[in-house]
Amino acid sequence: MNISSSEVLIPILGNYMNSKEDSTDVIASIYIGNFSKNTNSTIDNINQGEIYHRMCKIQNLYQSIYLSHQREKTMLNLLNVLSEIVSDNDPCGVLHPYHVANISKEIGKALRLDDITLKQIYIAGLLHDIGKLYIDNSILNKEGALTEDEFEIVKKHSVYGANIVKDVFGLDDISVLVKYHHERYDGTGYPNELTGEQIPLGSRILCLADSVDAMLSPRIYKEPRNVEFVIGELLKNRSKQFDAKIVDVMINMLLKANEETTDILSDTIIWSTLTMYTTKTVYSIEGTLGKYDFGYYFKANKFNFSTEINKDEIRTINLYINKNNNMYCYELKSDYYENNTLHISSFDYIPFLDSFNILWNLDGILNLNSLENLDINIYKIGGSRLMFYIDKKQIKEDIIDNILSLEVYFKGKENILLTGKIVNTFKVGNKNHYEFLYINTSDVVIDHLFKNIFSKQMELRRFITKII
Ligand SMILES: [Fe+2]
Ligand SMILES: [Fe+2]
Repeated sequence: MNISSSEVLIPILGNYMNSKEDSTDVIASIYIGNFSKNTNSTIDNINQGEIYHRMCKIQNLYQSIYLSHQREKTMLNLLNVLSEIVSDNDPCGVLHPYHVANISKEIGKALRLDDITLKQIYIAGLLHDIGKLYIDNSILNKEGALTEDEFEIVKKHSVYGANIVKDVFGLDDISVLVKYHHERYDGTGYPNELTGEQIPLGSRILCLADSVDAMLSPRIYKEPRNVEFVIGELLKNRSKQFDAKIVDVMINMLLKANEETTDILSDTIIWSTLTMYTTKTVYSIEGTLGKYDFGYYFKANKFNFSTEINKDEIRTINLYINKNNNMYCYELKSDYYENNTLHISSFDYIPFLDSFNILWNLDGILNLNSLENLDINIYKIGGSRLMFYIDKKQIKEDIIDNILSLEVYFKGKENILLTGKIVNTFKVGNKNHYEFLYINTSDVVIDHLFKNIFSKQMELRRFITKII
C-alpha cells in the first residue's frame, strides 16, 4: 500500500497470548483520513480527548477479537494434531472431543449454569484429552489391553492436558476442569482421588459425558452400545463413578434426544461434514465449523479447496451437523475460500421433511437383490420416509435408482416390510446416510410401524421409572 505523507494511520499493537512481555507487533492499522498539508496540527487533532478515547476503545476491541481468534486457531491446530494421532488407529475417535464438549454443554444447560460457565465447559470438553499429545503413540494406539505400567503413563494425560490449557492458552479455570476429568465421585479416580463435591462440577460433567460418548460411539475395537445399555450403566454407577444428579439429567436428555434443538450453531467450534456438489463430482469433506464474531468458516481436516475445487463448477454446498443424536442439514453459500478454509456467507436450514427422531436406532435390513442384504441403522422415521445409515459400507450407485425393500426389526415383535426408493445420500464420518422414500407402502403398514415404535418407547420409560 502506498501511503502519502498526509495520510494518518493509527497502528494497533498485537500482544501474543504466549508472550510474557509486551509485544510491539503491529497487527492492523486504522485509517483516520487524508489531512491537508495546510492543517498544521494533525497529531494534536488526534490526541484531542474524545478522538483519543475512541481510538483506545477500538484498539481494545480489536485486540480482544484478535486474541480470541488466535486462541481458537491454536486450539484447532492442537485438536487437529491430536486427531491425526488418534485417527491412524481409530478414525471414529476424531469426533470424541466434539461429542464430549457438546454433551457436557447440554448437561450444563439442563443444570441451568450461566453462559460463561457453559462456554468454559464446552472448551474444556474440546481439550479434555489434549494431554494425550504427550503420551507415546505406541501406547495410545496399542491394540489390546494396556499393562499396569502403560496405564499409569496414560493416566498422566489429565495433568499434562491441564498444563497445556494453562500455559498455552492461559485459561486457568478451564485447566482445572481438564485436570480432574477422570476423578470419580466415590474417590477412586485420578490424579488426586478427590471425592464428591471436592471435584469441580464441570469436571464431574466431563467425566460422565466422556463415558457416555465412549459407549454411544463406534470405535475400531467395538460396536456402539444402544441407549438402553447406556442408561443401565449410568444407573449402575450412580453415586459411584458419577454424581447422581448429573446421571438423572443425562438420562432425561437421552430420553428427549428426539427433540429438535434450535441453537445448533451457537458453539464456537463444531465438527461437521460438508457435501459439495460440483458439475463433475460430489465431495464429502470433514472438518470444523468455526465461528468468527462476524460469521462462520469451515476448516477442512484433509482437503485443500484452492487446489482441488474450481469455483465455477460448484453447484450446491450442504453442511451436516450431528448433534444430540440428531442430524441437521444446512445449505451454504460461500464467497471465497483459501487453502483448507471455506468462508461462509449464508446459511439456510433445510429440515428433513415429515420425520422425527427416534430414541434409539432401529435395526433393519435393506434387500438390494435376492442375493445381497445390508445391515442398516434407522434413526429417523416418518409417515412418508425414513433415514438410515450404514457403517463403513456404501450402496452401489446403480442400485440407488431401483425400488428396494427394507425390513425394520422389532425385538419380540413381527418385522415390518417397507418398499421404496433412496432419494438422498450423504456421508458423515464412516457412516453413509440415506433417505428412503416409501413407495407402494399402505397406511396399514405405516400404522403398524408407529404402534411398534410407541410401545417400545413406553417400555423404555417404564424400565427407567422402575429403577430411579
Ligand atoms: Fe481423558
Ligand atoms: Fe476422553
